[in-house]
Amino acid sequence: MKVVLLGAPGAGKGTQAKRISDFYAIPHISTGDIFRENIKNGTELGQLAKSYMDKGQLVPDEVVVSIVEDRLKKEDCQKGWLLDGFPRTLEQAESLAKFTDVDVVLDIEADFGLLEDRLCGRRVCPGCGASYHISTYSKPDCERCGQTLVHRDDDTKEVVRSRLEVYEKQTRPLIEYYAEKGVLKTVDGNLPIEECFAQIREIL
Ligand code: AP5
Repeated sequence: MKVVLLGAPGAGKGTQAKRISDFYAIPHISTGDIFRENIKNGTELGQLAKSYMDKGQLVPDEVVVSIVEDRLKKEDCQKGWLLDGFPRTLEQAESLAKFTDVDVVLDIEADFGLLEDRLCGRRVCPGCGASYHISTYSKPDCERCGQTLVHRDDDTKEVVRSRLEVYEKQTRPLIEYYAEKGVLKTVDGNLPIEECFAQIREIL
């Protein structure tokens, strides 16, 4: 099962990715998580990525593509994988197509008006990656692993607006690209989280 998750920032990619990965036992590969891990560890890649992420811009294609290509060669990806946040440009999609095919692209569509609030109110667990919203979860610690939740540096109003603009210009064209290839399925990201996941299970 080779699955790509598409969707604007805050549409619910990470939230659904955790559920899909647990349910189907396939590795969840999030390029955003890979960059955040490198930032935390103070690597050169982390420094480079941070300079783009803090402004809500995309890390250069050639950097991201080579990370994903290497990751998909690993043993745990041989029976399938779930890509979350990659590809994000036509160039990235064309590069991906050179080294693998894709079974299904799930495009999570949520109303733009919801996204700013979802992101600015999001709290994430630096341990297991679980994500919460302050309106529905007010505890300071992750209920899965107990670590203290954090507010992502790029979840501020200003950076969120720039991420949404970048999505419109650079990522939205991928919907047509994958529709033409016949692998696109649309998921309603306005639905409550578990209903959205039920729709995904039906598709998969
Ligand atoms: P990345 O980490 O991929 O962030 P993103 O795409 O902006 O997506 P988010 O993680 O913000 O949102 P999400 O859709 O996962 O939402 P979530 O499920 O958490 O990328 C960060 C940066 O890294 C980029 O800006 C770029 O700089 C760089 N980067 C990454 N990949 C790259 C690439 N391929 N090329 C170049 N640069 C790259 O949900 C959000 C909130 O909403 C949560 O609070 C959640 O609880 C809530 N929520 C989710 N679903 C629902 C629902 N159905 N109903 C109600 N609430 C919901």
